[in-house]
Amino acid sequence: MKILVTGASGLLGLNLSLREIGTHTIVGVDRSKLAGTPFEIYKADLLDPQAEHRLLDSLRPEAVIHTAANANVDACEADPEGARRLNADLPGELAQACARRGIRLVHISTDAVFDGTKNGLYTEDDVPNPLSVYARTKLAGEQNVLSVNPAAIVARVNFFGWSLSGTRSLPEFFYNQLAAGRPVNGFTDVHFCPLFVGDLAEILVRMLDKGLSGLYHVVGSEALNKYEFGLQVARQFGFDEALVIPKSVEESGLKARRSHNLRLSVHRLSTDLGQAIPGVSTGIAQFYTQAQQGYPQKMRSYQQG
Ligand SMILES: NC(=O)c1ccc[n+]([C@@H]2O[C@H](COP(=O)([O-])OP(=O)(O)OC[C@H]3O[C@@H](n4cnc5c(N)ncnc54)[C@H](OP(=O)(O)O)[C@@H]3O)[C@@H](O)[C@H]2O)c1
Repeated sequence: MKILVTGASGLLGLNLSLREIGTHTIVGVDRSKLAGTPFEIYKADLLDPQAEHRLLDSLRPEAVIHTAANANVDACEADPEGARRLNADLPGELAQACARRGIRLVHISTDAVFDGTKNGLYTEDDVPNPLSVYARTKLAGEQNVLSVNPAAIVARVNFFGWSLSGTRSLPEFFYNQLAAGRPVNGFTDVHFCPLFVGDLAEILVRMLDKGLSGLYHVVGSEALNKYEFGLQVARQFGFDEALVIPKSVEESGLKARRSHNLRLSVHRLSTDLGQAIPGVSTGIAQFYTQAQQGYPQKMRSYQQG
């Protein structure tokens, strides 16, 4: 299957595009950051008028995995209009363009659509209540996609891995501080279910292969808080665990409001896929193995200029 991946320079998009999954061929959409990748690149700004029509008509993919977004929670707070355009309007337009051409779509959303007040795991039937501009625009994006293209998959995700910048994801943050012998705060009051990006990539393609559609929670099967996550990274890399300092997110000075409970149930996903969903420990082990194999450096060699 020929799969078009938007946001190919991003944390999810690049890892997904670099992973060899079955016999699928990837074409990545990138604005300006990538060169020399082992997968084909199509240069486009998705906010240009008619961009989605041009790329679907010239590349003729069988499926699109739409990862491009403004995924910076605090940047969205500073630019609500830009966030709405990219996170809410564009997914609806792309979903309609895909539906008209019979192209399958996986739209990537977020666990952050929930306010975190539930005692327990959120299911797909729980009513979202987003707390930030980012989360509100992502929820609007989900609704825009499914209203025009009910055959699409909307995947609410939370994931981690190595990135082009080396600073995009949570374990990179812990890794960079701890490797330099610096203390690093870990929030004890934010609970989540992170999934290793390689596992996420495999699962998204499997969902397409299986012909799934509709709303799914596509996160890890294990819940923990961000402090415990930091400890696991420290342990895996042999760093001093005492450098991970327990803190409350309320003391962080972050601009946008964050949910305290982002624990999502993967019951629907594992039932419909017919497989168990990996937890965090095996993911951190894979993150470590990639570091040993020089994956972060290889990834950065695809950075243009
Ligand atoms: N990271 C997480 O843990 C997490 C958690 C929940 C949900 N998500 C969702 O997962 C998806 C991927 O997140 P990520 O962390 O991979 O994001 P990311 O690293 O910030 O990547 C975003 C990508 O979107 C591209 N993009 C932005 N504006 C564009 C435009 N106008 N035209 C073309 N491309 C554009 C960026 O290109 P440039 O490089 O050119 O800017 C970049 O490749 C997003 O939908 C996000 O909301 C992420």
